[in-house]
Amino acid sequence: MDLYVNGLRPLLFRVPADDAHRLAIAALRWPLLWRLIGSGPDHDPRLGLDLAGVKLANPIGLAPGFDKDCDVLASLQHLGFGFLAPGAIMREVRAGNPRPRLGRVVEQQAVINCMGLPSKGRAHAIANLQRLKQRRVPIFAEVQGTSKDEILDNVVAVQPYAEVVEVGLVCPNARDTDRYREVSEAVELIHSLAGVRTGPVLAKLPNQHHTSRHDILAPCLQACVEAGLEGVVVSGTKRYATAQLSMGVGSLAGRPVFEETLGLVREAFQLAGDRLAIIASGGVLTGRDAFEMLRAGASAIQFYSAMVYRGWNAPALINRELAAVLEAEGIESVQALVQRGRRTVGV
Ligand SMILES: Cc1cc2nc3c(=O)[nH]c(=O)nc-3n(C[C@H](O)[C@H](O)[C@H](O)COP(=O)(O)O)c2cc1C
Repeated sequence: MDLYVNGLRPLLFRVPADDAHRLAIAALRWPLLWRLIGSGPDHDPRLGLDLAGVKLANPIGLAPGFDKDCDVLASLQHLGFGFLAPGAIMREVRAGNPRPRLGRVVEQQAVINCMGLPSKGRAHAIANLQRLKQRRVPIFAEVQGTSKDEILDNVVAVQPYAEVVEVGLVCPNARDTDRYREVSEAVELIHSLAGVRTGPVLAKLPNQHHTSRHDILAPCLQACVEAGLEGVVVSGTKRYATAQLSMGVGSLAGRPVFEETLGLVREAFQLAGDRLAIIASGGVLTGRDAFEMLRAGASAIQFYSAMVYRGWNAPALINRELAAVLEAEGIESVQALVQRGRRTVGV
């Protein structure tokens, strides 16, 4: 019996999602506890890989949005993730949109949000990163901003404290980041990253709330290759109109965006081949889902919704399931699967 799915989840789902997330963060403020009950990091050698020059114990990461201010990384390190992507880190303190700004569509295993990039500010996040003395899991810190200058400034400030910087090119729920809806602006920003970065950088590409995937993918991928970035994060999240959220509209994540994300991974891989690492972010809830993304060309996964539907064991369970799928498919390791995907497409 799964303590989270059968015990805690039904109780948490009676609480508004904003409060449930606050409770989860409060519970994760006890690293010693999670060290005892957490299951990671998983050292199954079949799952290890090299991503952007960084060694990961497994390809399963936490997506930005869950620990926006790097408050609970010390505990999250014990859950079995291969990497953690806290953020989005913003330069200034921001309130974000009013509540309710987080919700669930339980029958679809989906999470909806219109957070609007709330932040305790960059100084707070950096202080937390500095305090994280024992690094068990690589940190892929995500930065965003309301202008190109702010984004570049955030990259410069945060990169000494993270193994990798993820740059979120747009947030669909924060009106003051709208400028990057224009693909030409995203391309310009990607090019500018080359001038400021000192370590590995991944670009989290704009999703398709306002622009079609064909308009976004090819020019952004080309810009990332030209700028020498290590990779991209692609996410199939969708615009979702609902009275559940204060803004009347938000982003849909979780199970319903799996197919879209898989399509993005395939297309990105066809366009960029092994010139860019591809991280898939959208709809991965099981090891089989992760396997499909890796087979389609992803090098790693980052998820959020699986934390809501499977709880603190999600990374360990997904890793175990992934190892079982590899075995059933006769594939010796994640690294072999990723390389095999590359050969299949013939890039
Ligand atoms: C409440 C919430 C907040 C999020 N905040 C961010 C964010 O700050 N930056 C970002 O790039 N993505 C953010 N995301 C998107 C996630 O990183 C992820 O790409 C998306 O949820 C799809 O993955 P999933 O289907 O596994 O949830 C957020 C998602 C949720 C649900």
